[in-house]
Amino acid sequence: MASGGRRVLVVGGGIAGLGAAQRLGCHSAVRYLRVLEATNRAGGRIRSERCFGGVVELGAHWIHGPSQDNPVFQLAAEFGLLGEKELSEENQQVETGGHVGLPSVSYTSSGASVSLELVAEMASLFYGLIDQTREFLQAAETPVASVGEYLKMKIGQQVTNWTKDEDTKKLRLAVLNTFFNVECCVSGTHSMDLVALSPFGEYTVLPGLDCTFSGGYQGLTDRIMASLPMDAMVFNKPVKTIHWNGSFQESAFPGETFPVLVECEDGALLPAHHVVITVPLGFLKEHQDTFFEPPLPAKKAEAIRKIGFGTNNKVFLEFEEPFWEPDCQFIQVVWEDTSPLQDISLSLQDTWFKKLIGFLVLPTFKSVHVLCGFIAGLESEFMETLSDEEVLQSLTQVLRRVTGNPQLPVPKSILRSHWHSAPYTCGSYSYVAVGSTGDDIDLLAQPLPTDATDDDQFQILFAGEATHRAFYSTTHGALLSGWREADRLIHLWDSQAQQPKPRL
Ligand SMILES: Cc1cc2nc3c(=O)[nH]c(=O)nc-3n(C[C@H](O)[C@H](O)[C@H](O)COP(=O)(O)OP(=O)(O)OC[C@H]3O[C@@H](n4cnc5c(N)ncnc54)[C@H](O)[C@@H]3O)c2cc1C
Ligand SMILES: *[C@@H]1O[C@H](CO)[C@@H](O)[C@H](O)[C@H]1NC(C)=O
Ligand SMILES: *[C@@H]1O[C@H](CO)[C@@H](O)[C@H](O)[C@H]1NC(C)=O
Repeated sequence: MASGGRRVLVVGGGIAGLGAAQRLGCHSAVRYLRVLEATNRAGGRIRSERCFGGVVELGAHWIHGPSQDNPVFQLAAEFGLLGEKELSEENQQVETGGHVGLPSVSYTSSGASVSLELVAEMASLFYGLIDQTREFLQAAETPVASVGEYLKMKIGQQVTNWTKDEDTKKLRLAVLNTFFNVECCVSGTHSMDLVALSPFGEYTVLPGLDCTFSGGYQGLTDRIMASLPMDAMVFNKPVKTIHWNGSFQESAFPGETFPVLVECEDGALLPAHHVVITVPLGFLKEHQDTFFEPPLPAKKAEAIRKIGFGTNNKVFLEFEEPFWEPDCQFIQVVWEDTSPLQDISLSLQDTWFKKLIGFLVLPTFKSVHVLCGFIAGLESEFMETLSDEEVLQSLTQVLRRVTGNPQLPVPKSILRSHWHSAPYTCGSYSYVAVGSTGDDIDLLAQPLPTDATDDDQFQILFAGEATHRAFYSTTHGALLSGWREADRLIHLWDSQAQQPKPRL
C-alpha cells in the first residue's frame, strides 16, 4: 500500500455527509476527498425553498433541544444564523420533554371549536402516558409490544372511569385520536402500533425551546459546504454499487490497490480506501441488494430491514387574507367519530386527509399568510400520488368544514413535500419499529469489514440520522453520526502514524 495518503469518499451530501467531510478535509492523511451527492443540491432532508416571498422548510423545521449539548445549535450560533431570543439562556433552559405545545384553536369536523380546557386535559393524559413508556426502558418483558398498544390499553382503562355524558366521551376520544396522529408525525410512522415500546425511551430530548432558522435551515448546510476543500462536492453523482472487500487496481494509480471501488450510475469507477455511507435508511431498504457487492453481512442486512422508516410530509397553503386570529400559532383539526380505540379502515381515497393533524401558522412575511399542514403514514404517501389541484381542493373542503365557513376562499397557492417518492430518500426519518431495538441501530452504525487486518480496516463506514441510537430522526443526530465516523478514521490514521510502518 502506498504511503501517499488516503482516498476517502463520502456518499450523500446531507448534514451527516457534510459533517464527516468537514472533519476529514482538514486531516493530513487525506490525499483525496469527494462527497458524491445524487441530486443537484446539498442538504438532503434539510431543504429550504424560497417561496411565498420568504423561505419555507420542506424538510427539517426546528432545532430540537437548542442548548449547549446540541451541535446543530452550536454551529448555527457560531455561523450567526440564530436570533437573540433563540440564543437566550432562558430559551435554552426550557424543558419541553419533547412534547408538542397546545394548539391555539381546535376545530372539529362539524365546524365547532373544542374547549381548550378539554384539549389540555387530553394532552396531559396523552403525554403523561408517553412519559410512562420510559418505565419499559431495558425491560425484559413488556405488557404489549408497541407504544400504540400501550397507550390504547391505558386509555381503555381510563375511559371506564369517565363519568361524562356520551357526547363528551366521544369528543375526548376524537381529540386523543388527533394526538395519536401528531405522534405519528413526530415518529415518522404510519401508526404508533408499529413503534416498539421498550426502546422508545432511548430517544433523548435535549433541553431548550425548539427554534427555527429565520433565513432557512439550509443556511447551516450551505455554510458547512462552504468550509469544505475546493472541488470536494460532486453533484448529480448517484452511486450505484459499492464494491468492497476487494483489491482493486486502477490505471490512474499504477502499483496501488484499493479495498473499495465505488461504481456510479454514470459508469464512473472511483477507487477508495474508505467510503462513508450516509444515504437515508429508506434508500438502503430499497436498494441494499444491489448497493453492496459483496452483500452486507446478514445481521446488518437484517437491521436495515427491521429498523422503521416512515413518512411525514408538509403541505403549505398560501392565503390572501388570514382566517385565523393574529396570535394563532397552531390550528388543530379533530375528526369526530374517530377514536384511538376503534380501527376503521376506510379507503385512502376518501379519508386520507383525516390523518392531517392541523396547521402551523408560519410567521407572516410581507403580508403573505401561510399555513403548514403535517400528515404522516400511508395517507401521507397516498397524498404524494395526488396532484396539487386535488390536494388543494380536498384541504379547502376540510378548512371550510372545520371553520363552518362555506365561503372560506380557496388558498392562493400550494407547495408540498414528497419525501416518500423522492428516489434518494424514500421516506422521512427512522424510528425503532416493533421487532427491533437500539442494538439494531448500533449494528447499522458498525463499520465493515468486522474482521479486518490493520491495513483494510474501516472500508465502509455508516453515518446518517438512522445510525444514532439516542438522537435518530434529527439533524443533530445526523451531524453527530457524521463526526463520529470521521473521528473513527482520524483515530485510525493517528494511531497508525505513531506505529513504525510495517512495510515500506
Ligand atoms: C418532513 C421532515 C421534517 C423534519 N423535521 C425535523 C426537525 O424539525 N428537526 C430535526 O432535527 N430533524 C427533522 N427532520 C429530520 C432531519 O431532516 C434528518 O434527520 C436529517 O436531515 C438527515 O440527515 P442525513 O445526512 O442523515 O440524511 P439526508 O439529509 O437525507 O442526506 C442523505 C443524502 O444522500 C443522498 N443520496 C441518497 N442516495 C444516494 C446515492 N445512491 N448516491 C449519492 N447520494 C445519495 C441524498 O440525496 C441526500 O442528499 C425532518 C425530516 C423531514 C423529512
Ligand atoms: C378508576 O377509578 C377507581 C376508583 O376511583 C380507581 O381505583 C382506579 O385506579 C381508576 N382507574 C384508572 C385507570 O384511573
Ligand atoms: C472478504 O474477502 C475474504 C478474502 O478474499 C473472504 O474470505 C471473505 O469471505 C470476504 N468477506 C465478505 C463479506 O465477502
